[in-house]
Amino acid sequence: MVREFEADLTVVAAVEAATDVVALTLAAEDGAALPPWTPGAHIDLVLGEDLVRQYSLCGNPADTRQYRVGVLRAPDSRGGSKAVHAELREGATVRVRGPRNHFPMVASPRYLFIAGGIGITPMLPMIAEAEASGADWRLVYGGRSRASMAFVDELAAYGDKVTLLPQDEAGFPDLDGLLGEAAPDTLVYTCGPTGLLDAVEDRCAASWPAGSLHLERFSAKAPASDEEDSAFELVLQRSGLTLQVPADQSIYEVCKAAGVSVVGSCLEGVCGTCETEVIDGDVDHRDSILNDEEKESNEFMMICVSRCRGDQLTLDL
Ligand code: FES
Repeated sequence: MVREFEADLTVVAAVEAATDVVALTLAAEDGAALPPWTPGAHIDLVLGEDLVRQYSLCGNPADTRQYRVGVLRAPDSRGGSKAVHAELREGATVRVRGPRNHFPMVASPRYLFIAGGIGITPMLPMIAEAEASGADWRLVYGGRSRASMAFVDELAAYGDKVTLLPQDEAGFPDLDGLLGEAAPDTLVYTCGPTGLLDAVEDRCAASWPAGSLHLERFSAKAPASDEEDSAFELVLQRSGLTLQVPADQSIYEVCKAAGVSVVGSCLEGVCGTCETEVIDGDVDHRDSILNDEEKESNEFMMICVSRCRGDQLTLDL
């Protein structure tokens, strides 16, 4: 497993991008180049012991010396966004891991981007890339109110390709109008609150060709499986270990307890940090990252939430 980048970066700017949204620009203290990234990528901010959060990169991938993220102070924060807003002022340092991309852009002549709230962040580099590639694109961006919608000044440069829908002025996006019929040669990218993503997913499933929809979730989707969890045997090929995974523990937990080197972050199947190669066995995928095709291929799994349908699973660990 290639060790990913991990370093303390300095907050070189902390700017209010909207009500309750701060845009942080992060750089190495010595100005060294940071690992490259592509639109859709995110980084981990390590905000304390057991407090790791993922934020989409929303700057310019061509700027190799800086990362930018936008962080919403979530009213129901479990500590992450509260810590960012309280502690990450200009001059502060924060441990950063990544970047990783589980929401990559696929080349297409046309794109429909649908963002809700802070879900605008991954869309910023995506629309810049779509624009640069000469693709035909449109962004529909909904938020609670105009004041709560981040980066609208940057979006103004794109003119009428961007539709802003502050809910208190314009209501919710008309998803039936946008997605009721599949548009030819068009990929749909969406990011935002669960309700929006579920609604977009339902409409695309009803009338768009498979593979048209690409989405990124901030929180775990309701578990698709209501099967009872059961115990299974776990073979770790590289370590030469065979472990028992009881019904009430995850593969990640069992590996950690056995001293096997595994990395995790969200532990709820949304960030992709714990992705592991599958060698053999029938995986019960429960993450919110892999698409149906990737799940069927059975090549990789998220060991923090996914399990085994059979009696034995062999992983490249
Ligand atoms: Fe985030 Fe497993 S730790 S997907």
